[in-house]
Amino acid sequence: MTTDRTDHGMTRANSACGTTDGYMPGFGNDFETEALPGALPQGMNSPQKCEYGLYAEQLSGTAFTAPRGQNERTWCYRIRPSVRHVSRFARIEMPYWKSAPNINPDTLSLGQYRWDPVPHGDEALTFVTGMRTMTTAGDVNTQVGMASHIYLITKSMQDEYFYSADSELLVVPQEGRLRFCTELGIIDLEPKEIAILPRGMVFRVELIDGPARGFVCENYGQKFDLPSRGPIGANCLANPRDFKTPVAAFEDREAKSRVIIKWGGQFHETFIDHSPLDVVAWHGNYAACKYDLRTFSPVGAILFDHPDPSIFTVLTAPSGTPGTANIDFVLFRERWMVAENTFRPPWYHKNIMSELMGNIYGIYDAKPEGFVPGGMSLHNMMIPHGPDRDAFEGASNADLKPEFLDNTMSFMFETRFPQHLTDFAAYEAPVQDDYVECWSDLEKKFDGTKGVK
Ligand SMILES: [Fe+2]
Repeated sequence: MTTDRTDHGMTRANSACGTTDGYMPGFGNDFETEALPGALPQGMNSPQKCEYGLYAEQLSGTAFTAPRGQNERTWCYRIRPSVRHVSRFARIEMPYWKSAPNINPDTLSLGQYRWDPVPHGDEALTFVTGMRTMTTAGDVNTQVGMASHIYLITKSMQDEYFYSADSELLVVPQEGRLRFCTELGIIDLEPKEIAILPRGMVFRVELIDGPARGFVCENYGQKFDLPSRGPIGANCLANPRDFKTPVAAFEDREAKSRVIIKWGGQFHETFIDHSPLDVVAWHGNYAACKYDLRTFSPVGAILFDHPDPSIFTVLTAPSGTPGTANIDFVLFRERWMVAENTFRPPWYHKNIMSELMGNIYGIYDAKPEGFVPGGMSLHNMMIPHGPDRDAFEGASNADLKPEFLDNTMSFMFETRFPQHLTDFAAYEAPVQDDYVECWSDLEKKFDGTKGVK
């Protein structure tokens, strides 16, 4: 941080927006940023003429009349208005990116599923063409539900841009770094971080180094928010300051460009002769951001029992029914295990919510084997699941001294809606046919006699 001393005699920070270069801290803040001095109008949104000959344009992420605490919009000051960043649309096929409802009656979604990491193929794939939908839930056209995807990227988008009118995208890299050049700034993203890309925001995705693989939760519904902490109070879990929104960045580039739009579950292309990433300045609270999962402060039992996994919620997207999320994004990371006289891994469980998990790195405590980095699992609505035999026996007989659960980071996309497998998930992805066997050797210990077995 640089400082200055002026005639007021105090030493003052020069940094106008936090301490991380290129980003502004906070979750859902009202930000302002300009890439050229004076580009942002002061005290008003829509002056008769904007500085630098820019066009003023509002991007509305919520209905105009949404309650103040949920109302999100951003004012953009750009080289051309967005109507010049589209032309006539033509439908294109994106066979591996599916939207709900996508139910194949011949594909069984009922059961416990687990997949090995989907390997890269020979085909050059971008963020858009490399998206592989695993499950869908709800209905994209009524703006409820979600889809889970994995992405496999071997190629940067060049003179190519994308936006989803259908959804907010939560990106969870597992391998390889990505650069999101968005209308509102640049996000560099690496494994152990996540990015949130709002509905309607144009971006291109570049590889920073080698191939990239990761997970995406496509949220058709109301935006992700921080969960209420209740009695936890004002701190811990995900803290707002650790969310980073990029400062304004633009390019003034004349080049034949393709814009791909996801709308109503279908894909369309349109061609223009310049870059649409031309927002010189903006202010508002509807913007992309990233978050470092290593800053998540887990809270848990410090005497006995295992709390409900909701204690590890990073973000929640409401469904309209209080406390019943359209999607919860939940993180299982390194932490101390100290509970006394307690079975410490997650307990056996049947749930009205549908749980899709992914492993970012390390070993997950309920499944010491088989659930590997890059892999996924699905425990759908009211399908039983829980620790496998090794995890059960290990935890039932462990010496219960304080233990640091190291080298572990897995997540869950949990939704109130049942998740339906795509054909890709059922027939092309490396599904583990023997997953259900991991519980088959859990033995009957009961013999009618009292006593701990
Ligand atoms: Fe569960």
